[in-house]
Amino acid sequence: MSEPAIEHRRVKVLFSAEQIARRNAELAAEIAQSQPKDLLVVAVLKGSFMFAADLMRELHKVGLAPQMEFMHLSSYRTGMTSSGQVTILRDVESDVRDRDILLVDDILESGRTLAFAIDLLAARGARVTTCCLLEKPGKRAVQVTPTYVGFTCPDHFVVGYGMDVAHSFRELPFIGVIEMPA
Ligand code: IMP
Ligand code: MG
Repeated sequence: MSEPAIEHRRVKVLFSAEQIARRNAELAAEIAQSQPKDLLVVAVLKGSFMFAADLMRELHKVGLAPQMEFMHLSSYRTGMTSSGQVTILRDVESDVRDRDILLVDDILESGRTLAFAIDLLAARGARVTTCCLLEKPGKRAVQVTPTYVGFTCPDHFVVGYGMDVAHSFRELPFIGVIEMPA
């Protein structure tokens, strides 16, 4: 595939749409093996929207019938550095007490976002497992280990497949790295 030039910047493909689709099917099979009961998928917005939508369809294919909720959290505002603080922009609507929850996020870096979401839902009485599409090793500021991981991600700022830099590039069907102009 040729590398697209967007806003005069090129995005180098790191994980192709085909690779992502194959991995999503594997993740769904792993999740089904855990035999979740009355599963509620909670997607952490915005970055996980595309991954969560594809994963839901794969979960259907392996015979699960999860319900879905969204939680909009923010730790990155604009730019590439973490503010270190997580804020709830929108909370889930359902009562999560005694439910099996699969928390879905795009990328695990410092771990603050995921740890925050796990603590919040666990405090409400949910049984929480987690699925992160990408994991950047060696970047953890808080101790958190996702139950399911799509890919280990090199230590670059990545975009596409729902992930953004300054609100752009979410529409790309693949995960890529922006090549900075020299
Ligand atoms: P953490 O709280 O530091 O683990 O950061 C997790 C959140 O930061 C993710 O859910 C993303 O929304 C965002 N993030 C971290 N690294 C990247 C990246 O390389 N590209 C786009 N977003 C990122
Ligand atoms: Mg996110």
